[in-house]
Amino acid sequence: MKQFFYAQDVQDIPSLIQSALDYKASPWKDETLGKHKKLGCLFMNPSMRTRLSTQVAAQQLGMETVVFNVGNEGWALEFADGAIMNGTTVEHVKDAAPIMGNYFDLLAVRTFPGLKDREADYSEHIMHQFIKYAGIPVISLESATLHPLQSLADLITIQENMPQKPVASKPKIVLSWAPHVKPLPQCVANSFAQWVNAWGAADFVIAHPKGYELDPSFTQGATIMHDQDAAIKDADFIYIKNWSAYQDYGTMPAYDGEWMLNNKKMQLTNQAKAMHCLPVRRNVELSDEILDSTNSLVIKQAANRVWAAQSVIASMLKATNT
Ligand code: CP
Repeated sequence: MKQFFYAQDVQDIPSLIQSALDYKASPWKDETLGKHKKLGCLFMNPSMRTRLSTQVAAQQLGMETVVFNVGNEGWALEFADGAIMNGTTVEHVKDAAPIMGNYFDLLAVRTFPGLKDREADYSEHIMHQFIKYAGIPVISLESATLHPLQSLADLITIQENMPQKPVASKPKIVLSWAPHVKPLPQCVANSFAQWVNAWGAADFVIAHPKGYELDPSFTQGATIMHDQDAAIKDADFIYIKNWSAYQDYGTMPAYDGEWMLNNKKMQLTNQAKAMHCLPVRRNVELSDEILDSTNSLVIKQAANRVWAAQSVIASMLKATNT
């Protein structure tokens, strides 16, 4: 694997999930794979889970990690081709990325959408510029539209918590929109949809109020519903997440009804497990009674971020070692 950005970058998702579970069972089994190799981690926005889990994963493979908070500590980067840099940006990615490519063996980049210009965000220009100019393999730690390491951790968590069902039947997984106080990116929802569809091992439903349709290129293959109660009926997993509108880009259209999951709604499900990528606004996006219940997988999901990152980094190290 030379880049980890889209689900389609992964040749065999079940094998990658198994690799992550193997690292979970034996974290140090490849402790020299990354010996004398360095991972540079660039953050352009805040993070807790992604930052820490990626470093732990790399260390368990024997790698050194260098974390650079570009947003707060670095020179302001320019990404526009042909820019006349007489404004606030100080250094062009064309100059910065190849330098990082000389310092590191792998580069991991975290960026966010502006949520103002859909075309700009969905072009993924920033991530593509790093991939183009770094000259080394690049891992997305979340981009303007996708969060692949999160999605891999989500599938690992689902795999570990599969309900007992007849062999031929697939688990029912529902991605459900939830309220929030401010507009959030579509990254986690897009990515989860992309990965579940690519995985192909689920009966996949997406529930959201009208006006919150996601980019169909990610959701194609899922059943889309606007009635949350109907959508979660007999669900085995409910992934709760807020996102802002894709059509009326970055806005928060008004909606009807109660969309925050609670115990009453859970009675409609097949004792569903509740998932969320975190951080979560308690009692806005998701109720205490769900988050603190035995049905909640949110801590296990976050813990699995380490094994997701370790399996991806190992796969890239193996590709660069051959
Ligand atoms: N889920 C997730 O990406 O968390 P952080 O923003 O804390 O990295």
